[in-house]
Amino acid sequence: DTVKVFAPATVANVVCGFDVLGFAVNAPGDEVVMRVTDKPGVIISKITGDDGRLPLNPDKNTVSASVQDYLKHIGRTDIGIDIELHKKMPIGSGLGSSSASTVAGLFAINTLFDNQLSNQELVPFAMKGEELACGYGHADNVAPALLGGFVLVRSYEPLDVISLPFPQDMCAAIVYPEVDVPTKDARQMIRSKVLLKDAVKQWGNVAGLVTGLFTNDYDLIGRSMVDVLVEPTRSILIPDFYKMRSIAMEMGAVSFGISGSGPSVFALTKDQDTAHLITQALQKQLKSIQINSLSFVSSV
Ligand code: HSE
Repeated sequence: DTVKVFAPATVANVVCGFDVLGFAVNAPGDEVVMRVTDKPGVIISKITGDDGRLPLNPDKNTVSASVQDYLKHIGRTDIGIDIELHKKMPIGSGLGSSSASTVAGLFAINTLFDNQLSNQELVPFAMKGEELACGYGHADNVAPALLGGFVLVRSYEPLDVISLPFPQDMCAAIVYPEVDVPTKDARQMIRSKVLLKDAVKQWGNVAGLVTGLFTNDYDLIGRSMVDVLVEPTRSILIPDFYKMRSIAMEMGAVSFGISGSGPSVFALTKDQDTAHLITQALQKQLKSIQINSLSFVSSV
């Protein structure tokens, strides 16, 4: 028995929803090929596209570690599993790279075991993978990668994950400036205490964004996507962040911000053409300061 699974990149936080909002894109993403073998135990036989950066040790790799957890949970540690991981998206990009790999692996093992768990039930296993990857089990990448679309993590304890509606023509223009920002470091630089007046602004914006998604109100979505807590600190790590924001907004973006922990940035648009033009302009801007970049355009 062999299965091949693709899982998508995700844009976490969606500006104002640190650790509670995220959406999936069509591409890029990662691929896992999984085979049942005769020899009990989970092994990673091959990783491609990672430039040797990811561990082959099954206890340290997020894909095999979460598959091991899954097998323990269903009481099938007697089984042998061989995993090939094909990275098809940049690592440390803020696009949910570890999440895409982990989710592809969990979806594959669940398929091999007749979908014993629902995608919702796989979320906690994937969160443990995130904990291994960056020290904290946030769900705002793994939940949209598993469920698709826009997702709200209403609560972590107990876990309460909710799929949200969104305007059907919504697109994302994503640009990844090729500078490395590990999520672990980008999390450590955030202040852990916030002022009440800033919290008031933030939860007003989260509620505004969610309302805009429900009512297809792009104007409300745009004016709600403001982050007073995290972006002011993390934007320092992103070359020409505010310049890129001005360019995107002048070109008709609904909103602009950091994808996950960065350095990728994204703009929401109402159509694919605007998204393409924005990625081209942002890449040109980065090139003018000698930063190479990759870009992706996707529907949400
Ligand atoms: N919510 C997480 C963070 C996402 O911002 O650290 C990481 O991609």
